Amino acid sequence: MHDIIRQLEAKREKARLGGGQKRITSQHAKGKLTARERIELLLDEGCFEEWDMFKEHRCVDFGMAEQTVPGDGVVTGYGTVNGRLVFVFSQDFTVFGGALSEAHAEKICKIMDHAMKVGAPVIGINDSGGARIQEGVASLGGYAEVFQRNVLASGVIPQISLIMGPCAGGAVYSPAMTDFIFMVQDSSYMFVTGPEVVKTVTHEEVTAEELGGASTHSTRSGVSDRAYENDVEAIMMTRRLIDFLPASNKAGVPVRPTADSSERMDESLDTLVPDNPNKPYDMRELIIKIVDEGDFFELQPEYAKNILIGFGRMEGRTVGIVANQPLVLAGCLDIKSAIKAARFVRFCDAFGIPVVTFVDVPGFMPGTAQEYGGIIKHGAKLLYAYAECTVPKVTVITRKAYGGAYDVMSSKHLRGDVNFAWPSAEIAVMGPKGAVEIIFREEKNNPAKLAEREAEYKSKFANPFVAGARGYIDDVIMPHETRKRICRSLAMLRDKQLENPWRKHGNIPL
Ligand code: HXC
Repeated sequence: MHDIIRQLEAKREKARLGGGQKRITSQHAKGKLTARERIELLLDEGCFEEWDMFKEHRCVDFGMAEQTVPGDGVVTGYGTVNGRLVFVFSQDFTVFGGALSEAHAEKICKIMDHAMKVGAPVIGINDSGGARIQEGVASLGGYAEVFQRNVLASGVIPQISLIMGPCAGGAVYSPAMTDFIFMVQDSSYMFVTGPEVVKTVTHEEVTAEELGGASTHSTRSGVSDRAYENDVEAIMMTRRLIDFLPASNKAGVPVRPTADSSERMDESLDTLVPDNPNKPYDMRELIIKIVDEGDFFELQPEYAKNILIGFGRMEGRTVGIVANQPLVLAGCLDIKSAIKAARFVRFCDAFGIPVVTFVDVPGFMPGTAQEYGGIIKHGAKLLYAYAECTVPKVTVITRKAYGGAYDVMSSKHLRGDVNFAWPSAEIAVMGPKGAVEIIFREEKNNPAKLAEREAEYKSKFANPFVAGARGYIDDVIMPHETRKRICRSLAMLRDKQLENPWRKHGNIPL
């Protein structure tokens, strides 16, 4: 018995060392933590239950029979984040560059299957050279097994990917199918083909960082939801994100006690919207003043900045927030912002998270770039997402709600449950100036007359009362009481029941 225990300890010790001290030192020299250090930081202290520590690859080609490392380059298991269950896999770059073998994939699939069974999030920490080259198609099969599970888990349990090293080739498609991707500045990259292949095919010279680093994906491509300075920050923020998320699509939103009263007023909001309708203001300020304790977890803050998305809490319960941002492109909707918000609304809908929408939108972005880029199809994504969404939807129009964008932004007509407007709201087909230039075209050479028409149009439509008279707005509220009114609406909607007609699935314009 003692022998076996000694053997067990020796085996564990070997597994914990992964690819050995030299490679661990090299990992640290790159500013990266090891796979196990990352798990230790991510989970509550001492709670990690590791599985398959002794699992090894079965490859015998290219001298691999003599090179086995217990665990085979990925650490898997489960534990808790602030007391709530999560499953985790963490690729170990010190073992064959974290490359994915058949056995390595089986370990990932095992924890994904269990997470689905019990209803808990999966956090994948990616740091890998991709398919284990010595294994050939067995490795590709392993990837596809993971992909299949990513898809089946989508909308059932939250899936979060941390990119903390290389992630290239087809390997990028597993994180791509998860709900959130966090990257680390200067030590992580994601691309379908690397700089060498790019140079050969398109003759572009680009570094790995430029092609697929954290900055690229959090500002240009929108692939990454957040970029952090280092592993520690990314892991701490992942813990924070988990605190907002339901464990599964059946679990309901987490509730945490809050000292922030739902009746809290904020007088400063009464002067947030400038008198001049063309002057911008920061919608983020409104969000921070509305949510519990000003705690807003923003996603994709550096991408499509004309729309804001993220999580907050109202009366201790998670809500998803979508808001036009007048500071950027006057808050108009364009291709990128529509896609960004649509995916977020769908996440909230899948997981039963109420959606609070703040509207100040002058319309869709005009221009050839947008039309040629398919704004029709991409704008429709957001419309589709809001229209199919059955979770509680509370909308506040702070200023402009013009044209099709009025319809799209969680309007009454798309089953918005409670739709408020501030007194500064302007709900119309378009801005007064554009409107009179079209309907009174024959007076275009008479500026005085046109100004008169504009004033007339403005007094008729540049207010919330026409929409209110039709019941499209449930109430016109004072800005300072916005938090209270949203909290009451959400409390009223807590047991909302609404189902879409049966279908295999809809056909969102992709
Ligand atoms: C087996 C690999 C490996 C791989 C790295 N290693 N990638 N072993 N299969 N895919 C090994 C290296 O041989 C080395 O072993 C150790 O990991 C560390 O790698 P280094 O090259 O020393 O590290 P670094 O200089 O940091 O470079 C990292 C790297 C590079 C950029 C990831 O290793 C690399 O380019 N690897 C190949 C990437 C690749 O082409 N993968 C296949 C992509 S196709 P030793 O023993 O020397 O320490 C793919 C398809 C997926 O992934 C399809 C899914 C559908």
